[in-house]
Amino acid sequence: MRPSESEIPIRNDALLEWYGRMGRNLPWRQTEDPWQILVSEVMLQQTQASRVAEAYSRFLDRFPDPASAARADAAEMLIAWSGLGYNNRALRLREAARIIEAAGWPTTAETLRSLPGVGPYTAAAVACFAFGEQVPAVDTNLRRVLSRWVGRPLDGRDLADVAANVLATGAAADWNQAVMDLGATLCRPREPACRSCPVASWCTRPDVYAAPRTQGRFDGSIRQARGAVLRCLISHGHVHRSNLIESVPAVRVEDALKGLIRDGIVVEDADCVTLVD
Ligand code: ADE
Repeated sequence: MRPSESEIPIRNDALLEWYGRMGRNLPWRQTEDPWQILVSEVMLQQTQASRVAEAYSRFLDRFPDPASAARADAAEMLIAWSGLGYNNRALRLREAARIIEAAGWPTTAETLRSLPGVGPYTAAAVACFAFGEQVPAVDTNLRRVLSRWVGRPLDGRDLADVAANVLATGAAADWNQAVMDLGATLCRPREPACRSCPVASWCTRPDVYAAPRTQGRFDGSIRQARGAVLRCLISHGHVHRSNLIESVPAVRVEDALKGLIRDGIVVEDADCVTLVD
């Protein structure tokens, strides 16, 4: 007979032991500084860890604390963000820095969510890694890993409850990072490497959440066009709309421009467009 869910032995000891041996050595794991952690988690929202690792120290050299980011203009911020994409994250980070400068750090998962660009996952990650709160950082990786362990697709409240139960209290930071690494390296969406998995013998359904989620091709994409428009505006400042559309070497420039205006990164002024201040 299958054990009931509460009896399923979630072997945190095996997981944490594996993490100690095999965990990825990523730069944001060497710090408990809340700004450095917040920067890393915002960067990691939509960008792969390997790409974040390249941009991270360059960004922190330029903006070592919330005060320096709060004072920046948009172009400086976007230059430091280059290579990461989804540029409105950089401007929201600057907004967050301004709030932190004015009001101090929120220190719990619940209150960190009031910062711009900080959703439930990022808030929990910062609360846990920087302020030691014993909370699970629930993202799609954690959802997939825990769903496979307990043997059914978890979501919403159910996922939050299971994550809170399974969390290794007292070692939440290592546990969250361990689950992330397991999800990124072995318990992948497709073709999980169960033979190398430290918790395989307690896993009930490695096929759950096997659907691939592929990132669209970059060439010809809106993302590519947004990057090209921003590079043009960073180097030329004020640009006539039609010149911009003609001169940017990417397709979908008009769509990209509309999106950047909608996101408040670019402003229109008669026939010209420019970066926000
Ligand atoms: N993805 C989101 N947060 C992460 C972290 N702290 N380490 C590795 N990958 C992540």
